[in-house]
Amino acid sequence: MSASREYDIADTASLAPGAARSVEVDGRRLALVHLEQEFFAIDDACPHRGGPLGAGFVKDCRVHCPLHGWGFDVTTGACDVRPDKPVRTYPVTVRDGRVWVTLEPRVGSAAVV
Ligand code: FES
Repeated sequence: MSASREYDIADTASLAPGAARSVEVDGRRLALVHLEQEFFAIDDACPHRGGPLGAGFVKDCRVHCPLHGWGFDVTTGACDVRPDKPVRTYPVTVRDGRVWVTLEPRVGSAAVV
């Protein structure tokens, strides 16, 4: 049985509070968002038409898609325009100045040891 795995995805100092950026980890694209003292990771692809949420703008606890402006609560993944179109959120921890995200194995991928 495959287990979740933690990935080191960023230096905490590399992303200013109130900013977001796209990161690629284990073949997946995530949007990393820095809110004040906390970091969050959600799917990078907007469920509307695939806009890169990591290139969106951050206001309060939301990141807004750069293409058509749909907003997503980075703490829950909820979409403010289409409640039926949330994005997935991923557990994030910060330690030793680094941001870590926990991902489950991809469907169909080899087991992570
Ligand atoms: S692609 Fe994100 S709002 Fe349209």
